[in-house]
Amino acid sequence: MSSTSNETTAALAELDRLESEGLTAFETLTSIPDWEAARVVFLGLKQGRLKVAQEALKTLPGPDRKIYGQRFNAVKTALEVACETAKTKLDQSVVKTAVIGEDLTVPGTARGFGRRHPLTQTSEELIDIFGRMGFELARGPEIEDTFHNFEALNIPADHPAREPLDNFYLTPKTLLRSQTSTVQIRVMEATKPPIRVVALGRVYRPDAVDATHSFMFHQIEGLYVDRGVTMANLKSTLRQFAKSYLGQDVTVRFRPSFFPFTEPSVEVDMMWDSSGRWVEMGGAGMVDPNVLKAVGYDPDEVSGFAFGLGIERLCMRRHGIDDIRPFYQNDVRFLSQF
Ligand code: DAH
Repeated sequence: MSSTSNETTAALAELDRLESEGLTAFETLTSIPDWEAARVVFLGLKQGRLKVAQEALKTLPGPDRKIYGQRFNAVKTALEVACETAKTKLDQSVVKTAVIGEDLTVPGTARGFGRRHPLTQTSEELIDIFGRMGFELARGPEIEDTFHNFEALNIPADHPAREPLDNFYLTPKTLLRSQTSTVQIRVMEATKPPIRVVALGRVYRPDAVDATHSFMFHQIEGLYVDRGVTMANLKSTLRQFAKSYLGQDVTVRFRPSFFPFTEPSVEVDMMWDSSGRWVEMGGAGMVDPNVLKAVGYDPDEVSGFAFGLGIERLCMRRHGIDDIRPFYQNDVRFLSQF
């Protein structure tokens, strides 16, 4: 091992310092201007510290130059690599900053809060009102079979309500349900009386769309089956409900009607406004003994009432809306009013 002069030892120590300071500098940079400045300090071709160190070679005694030269080349490579690496890292972070918009001086875009759809709000309130009267929530499928949509509701095969033109059949035996009365059957099949449930949801009928019709709308169905349930119970329940949802001053009337699954049946109307106009709220009646029998109940033991009301109509009466179509158009000017 050849020994070096004091001069060379000092120069080698200076190379070590240059290396460690240069590496630290390039590793801790945080901006392109800082990087540019460091590049000039360490690698600058005229005054850079590496250039100065290279010049120092000439002042060393001949035999030491090889040792110094090798070490110099290693330091030079290390600093050049560190310099390139730092540049790549900074370039990437600049791109990211631009993409995610971290410039805190750019004005933001205000976003409004969303809200629940008026029909959802109405449904929740109806569930709440009937809940306080002891009705539990029941659910049924929107794709139904003809047994639950018709047969079990005492609507025989030749009944006009089953017409293909009046229903959305998917197959000869399945359809989009045309009424939530289907859920009455599903609940009674699955439970024994006493039963007190409401079921809410979409129903589908191929009606032409106008101010009062839509091919899809929402119903709330009610069913109460127990010993000794009467028509008086039905009327007081619906009157009580109407007062709760529409206000104490609402007037409700019952007109004799016909539904295959209730006997007797009534049409339920509400007074729409001060002009004295009546608008149908839905249908109701005492559950037909045939329906009770079909689900295995004894009509001599229990009786029941049922009702089916249009949810859109209720919401329209409550808020003074005269057209059903805005419910389905997603116009924020309409929706933001609720
Ligand atoms: N399902 C009937 C309809 O959609 C409404 C209805 C009438 C429901 C009488 C009932 C009922 O539960 O008892 O037109």
